[in-house]
Amino acid sequence: MIFKNNNIFHLQGKQISYIMAVNECGDLLHYYYGKKLRDKNYEWVKQKWSVWNGYGPDKWTLDICPQEYPAYGYTDLRTPAYSVVNKNGGTVSRLTYKSYKILQNSVQEIEGMPALFAGDKNAQTLEIVLEDKNAGFEVILSYTVFDEYDIIARSAKITNISDTEITIDTAYSTVLDMPKRAYELIHFSGGWAKEREMYRNKVRQGVKIDISNARGGSGHNINPFVMLAEEGADETNGDVYSMTLVYSGNHSTMLECDQFGNVRLMQGINPFGFEWRLKQGESFFTPQSIMCYSDKGIGGISRELHDVIRQNLCRSKWVDMERPILINNWEATYFDFNEEKLLDIAKTAKQQGVELFVLDDGWFGDRNDEETSMGDWRVNLKKIPSGIDGLAKKINDMGLKFGLWFEPESVNPDSDIYRAHPDWIVHSAGVEPTQSRFEYLLALTRGEVCDYAINSVCNILESANIEYVKWDMNRPMTDIPRKGFNHEFTLGFYKVMDAITSRFPDILFEGCSGGGGRFDAGVLAYMPQIWTSDNSDAVKRMQIQYSTSIGYPVSSISAHVTAVPNHQNGRVTSLKSRADVAYCGVFGYELDITKMNENELDEVKKQIENDKKIRSLMINGDFYRLESPYNSNYCAWETAAKDKSEAFVMCAKILSEANCEEKRVKFYGLDPDADYIDEYTSKVYGGDELMYNGVVPEFGQYDFATQIFYLRKI
Ligand code: GLA
Repeated sequence: MIFKNNNIFHLQGKQISYIMAVNECGDLLHYYYGKKLRDKNYEWVKQKWSVWNGYGPDKWTLDICPQEYPAYGYTDLRTPAYSVVNKNGGTVSRLTYKSYKILQNSVQEIEGMPALFAGDKNAQTLEIVLEDKNAGFEVILSYTVFDEYDIIARSAKITNISDTEITIDTAYSTVLDMPKRAYELIHFSGGWAKEREMYRNKVRQGVKIDISNARGGSGHNINPFVMLAEEGADETNGDVYSMTLVYSGNHSTMLECDQFGNVRLMQGINPFGFEWRLKQGESFFTPQSIMCYSDKGIGGISRELHDVIRQNLCRSKWVDMERPILINNWEATYFDFNEEKLLDIAKTAKQQGVELFVLDDGWFGDRNDEETSMGDWRVNLKKIPSGIDGLAKKINDMGLKFGLWFEPESVNPDSDIYRAHPDWIVHSAGVEPTQSRFEYLLALTRGEVCDYAINSVCNILESANIEYVKWDMNRPMTDIPRKGFNHEFTLGFYKVMDAITSRFPDILFEGCSGGGGRFDAGVLAYMPQIWTSDNSDAVKRMQIQYSTSIGYPVSSISAHVTAVPNHQNGRVTSLKSRADVAYCGVFGYELDITKMNENELDEVKKQIENDKKIRSLMINGDFYRLESPYNSNYCAWETAAKDKSEAFVMCAKILSEANCEEKRVKFYGLDPDADYIDEYTSKVYGGDELMYNGVVPEFGQYDFATQIFYLRKI
């Protein structure tokens, strides 16, 4: 709901309120963000406002005012939300209120970029128009709220209303000016094979923290999802605010704690390396940032965001459907395969109950290693004499679906496409372009290059019965020719992704970027699942999946059982524990199943039967993190059905220890008055007992031991 009371705007979600007001000088100031307030008493807003009545450089300063879209250098000297170079070369700006519009049953439309849709929810959008008459531009701030959610989606549109060109240097999507309080900033940083590790830092007066990425995609190193938490907030208690950027390019989340301890948190496109010129009448859209608030801790944020992403961001029809259990040949064969080998893997996998066979990298051109053929999207008949169509038919005849790997954004220098169009790659004139994994990036800033990517992928998809696509991207962006190029590329990426996914709405698409290097809400708008990390060691994966689940739904977390010793870190874990971790995600296998012995195959068959029972719950349930693997020897998580009829719980002990403490794990989201039977042990527990007293898992005495529970209400 959106209320307008004189100059006050009050946005309400399910349990939240967000209040802003225009002061007598036309500044749009921020007043409140937190638990829901009634649309009733606004006296306090007016009183606060009258204190600020003496506005003007001599009497008062915006430096101490919480604002909705602050500028630098007028009277506020903190980091600004925007910076626009006007015709005189200066950036001094003051935006004042011009008008507003409330759009009923409507969400923000963001040109060229993905955003939340309304679906069957009640969404309203408030558009506030601010204007800088001197500098000659207008900003429309959009706020979308849903009656059903505790989120506020924000974006900004900047329009040149002057008679000359202007240049945008900085344009954040959202700003949150919060009053002094003991806060912690939680962010998700890492690298290849160690994506989204969780970091928690106390916010101190005077600090300025720039959580930003300039590596091209949203990145392995920093994820565009952050939380600002009341100090000490945990999984179930405390005020937590979060920001999720619906964007897959260079991003920044900027925190500044000022001289009074007030905190400014902003999220948007990374201003570093950014610039956007606007001719007279032209507009620029920032990506959307989804803000969420919960007074029920980090878990409250997660469950809300999981629902929002699943129900109002992902467009794929697969988003709430059971995903086929797959086997992928990458870690089984790498580039060294032929048709016979693939069919052997598929046949053995089918016998255990696998439903989808995925052919990974190495099926096209003359590709037998990383150095050649990327971009030449035609099948290598030496390796696959039946062609993709023939192979897909053979796989289908076995009763399996067939899926294929692509990397549509890259080319090898040793490829026909590069030889034909050397100017199509991202490069800076006169500079020898840098290779990464022997690749260049295609300049998706150009129409004909996007068309090539779209057509070459679509031709293959049309030529065979392909029901799943893994869309990879394996290098950072270098040799950037001009400021703003990364954003142009990101718009091109969305154009290509939109064209291909909307032409094949029945295909299940999975995002990937050297593992989880582009795990973001922008990709999730088009693809319901993403390869979480190339690191599939169960112990490290548990940590990666734990922290990924904070901002993203389990239904988006692709998780495979792989061979031991693990190919990334050499660790040996049991087949059971590898599957127990992978159940919490979109389950699959990535190993040479033909090398497994009878006992192992038997175990795999049982694991698959188990996943088929629980996968619908994992896709659509409420997720609770019960024990954190960060700085602890344990981890536990749970998915409970929204109607409390069933729950799946995984508990893990990382290292075996003698004479250690008893670990009791308490469950959540159950019916305290009902009894539940654990399908694995046939033990009966009370919902109250499981939630209030908890259970002590039986781990056994070996390293990385796991226990799972599948509880059904009786
Ligand atoms: C990336 C992916 C892997 C695999 C390889 C193929 O590294 O993350 O899963 O597809 O590319 O080259």
